[in-house]
Amino acid sequence: MENFSFYMERLGYCEDYISECFIGNMWSNISNKDDFLFPHSHPGCIMSGAYYVKTTEENSITFYDQIDPAFEPPKYNNPLNWSTTNYPCVPARLLMFRSNMIHGTTRQEEEGEKIVISFNIVKTIRELS
Ligand SMILES: [Fe+2]
Repeated sequence: MENFSFYMERLGYCEDYISECFIGNMWSNISNKDDFLFPHSHPGCIMSGAYYVKTTEENSITFYDQIDPAFEPPKYNNPLNWSTTNYPCVPARLLMFRSNMIHGTTRQEEEGEKIVISFNIVKTIRELS
């Protein structure tokens, strides 16, 4: 939760908000050649994470910007107008990202096991009195 707190503080969340957050669920995925992860998000969660236990060199995760069909894309891409970005899946790397970010992986073309431990961080819901 230390990395989560660090990230959330930089996003502007206060300590009281962060202290009510916890890991809501956690799972593992084992994948191999021809496996892929269809683009998706994790609705209802604050932040999600992936810890790479074992990967191959070709493994990466892609994050997609929201698609707005009314917006004409610029002619040249730069860090301020990206529509996708890729991060290599490196063993012992922890990636944390806002849960509403659409992400996925392309089909793995070569043999090789990838093992990932993923989790979602959620916030306590207070009941209205
Ligand atoms: Fe995911």
